[in-house]
Amino acid sequence: MRHWHRLIGPYTVGEHVPSLVFRCPVRNSALTSQLPQSGSNATFDSSVADRDPDRFAFGKNWVAFLQRVDESTIARAVQSLTEMLDVSDLTGKRFLDIGSGSGLFSLAAHRLGASVVSLDLDTDSVQCTEELRRRFGSSNRWSIHTGSALDRDTLAELGVFDVVYSWGVLHHTGRMWDALGNAGDCVVDKGTLFIAIYNDQGRTSRRWTAIKKLYNRLPSALRFLVLWPALLRIWGPTTVRDLLRGRAGQTWREYPEKNRGMSVWRDVVDWVGGYPFEVARPDEITEFFGERLFRLKSVRTCGRGRGCNEFVFTADK
Ligand SMILES: C[S@@+](CC[C@H](N)C(=O)[O-])C[C@H]1O[C@@H](n2cnc3c(N)ncnc32)[C@H](O)[C@@H]1O
Repeated sequence: MRHWHRLIGPYTVGEHVPSLVFRCPVRNSALTSQLPQSGSNATFDSSVADRDPDRFAFGKNWVAFLQRVDESTIARAVQSLTEMLDVSDLTGKRFLDIGSGSGLFSLAAHRLGASVVSLDLDTDSVQCTEELRRRFGSSNRWSIHTGSALDRDTLAELGVFDVVYSWGVLHHTGRMWDALGNAGDCVVDKGTLFIAIYNDQGRTSRRWTAIKKLYNRLPSALRFLVLWPALLRIWGPTTVRDLLRGRAGQTWREYPEKNRGMSVWRDVVDWVGGYPFEVARPDEITEFFGERLFRLKSVRTCGRGRGCNEFVFTADK
């Protein structure tokens, strides 16, 4: 079981789980073409970032994920949000989801009663968010924008928010520390900032950076050459351990339940492909926001493991 540590003072190291804590599914361009065309509220030309040859096509990969979203996935997302934010309701709150991806957590916040603004750089991600809103939500209290966490003008136009949520995003911008500062600036005084940032594993993180670059440079037909060994490296030990304990496949089966409704395979693809890629130690993040007058409310780390450290801060501006 994972623990959500409540802290005053230095952070606590949570239990390490073999999760990749990344959420972008495999490509499915056929489905992409079925999605409604984005036209709403476009405030940023994403073409510059989209042209980056090493950039992972996050949005395209979210499309496949949409197929498996149902009420139970949404319920898990709602539960993860309420647990992490330590609230049961967001009625009357303004909620900004930076890097909304599939839109699942925007939807969760909407279900909790918040007025939601979703933002993503990737037009496919924006279309996914729009599709989730069409299928499960409503335009009432929910607007969706194409834009970058690095674009201060766009963010300023959106205003300030009671809750700023950016899970697994800011380390993919290519300028993580600028993006972190920008996210913090969107939080109203006494508001909440909830972020998840890749853990710094030193040399291991540098090795993964090289692997991710290689993956994105390979033609899609050859990417399995990186993907399959990575899957074996990441899941091999857990699979063997489960087998030896006489519960074959258990961790794999329980993964969605324990990881915000996500799937093992999609998270592996997302982890291997997810580039740009930056990392930070938990103390670097808390110091950065401490200097900007944010108080750490809770943190969940993955110890020395692979994945994201999650932080909830309160703005004491
Ligand atoms: C790994 S996904 C996380 C999605 C979602 N936050 C979640 O928790 O499931 C990262 C998302 O960040 C978006 N992203 C990357 N760089 C961005 C930027 N500069 N501004 C806004 N979104 C960005 C990607 O397009 C992608 O949808």
